Amino acid sequence: MNIDLYELTEQLRKILPVKRFNHTLGVGYMCSALAMRYNCDIYRAQLSGLLHDCAKYLSSKEILEECLKNEIKVSEEESNHPHLLHGRLGAYYAKNIYGVDDEEVLNAIEYHTTGHPDMSLLEKILFISDYIEPSRKMVKGLQETRDMAFIDIDKSLILKIESVLNYLNERECFIDELTLKTYDFYK
Ligand SMILES: [Fe+2]
Ligand SMILES: [Fe+2]
Repeated sequence: MNIDLYELTEQLRKILPVKRFNHTLGVGYMCSALAMRYNCDIYRAQLSGLLHDCAKYLSSKEILEECLKNEIKVSEEESNHPHLLHGRLGAYYAKNIYGVDDEEVLNAIEYHTTGHPDMSLLEKILFISDYIEPSRKMVKGLQETRDMAFIDIDKSLILKIESVLNYLNERECFIDELTLKTYDFYK
């Protein structure tokens, strides 16, 4: 696998709306920075960051249709909340459109929204970067997660999930069971 990150960035620039593209760049850079801090492969971290939302420009309806068309597994909850599937579809695109054959990178992309128990370092780096990248609008808990990200990645992961759960609870939004399992594992 030898994907040119500059060319990839230019490809993404063409398909992603400008806000999503800026977020993508931010996540790519955060992934590089955390990879430096925690001694992870910088290229693979940046690749994960650049591709993590590569399916998120589609509408919920299109995401679900794409998953069904490509025989990607969809749970009942996910079919009711198709935006939850953008990670799994993104991993599918990363493999089949962008040529990623690195399973750990694909897993990091698939699980970037929920996390999962016992994540690899690369998966943790993407999970945190997605949340703390510079263009994220400030919400309760974000500053603490940012402060902790370069000190203790597992603690920062707990802070992110707590902050996300608070946000979703306050708005009575659906919470994926895997997010809760991830939280229990690291707490
Ligand atoms: Fe995402
Ligand atoms: Fe994202």
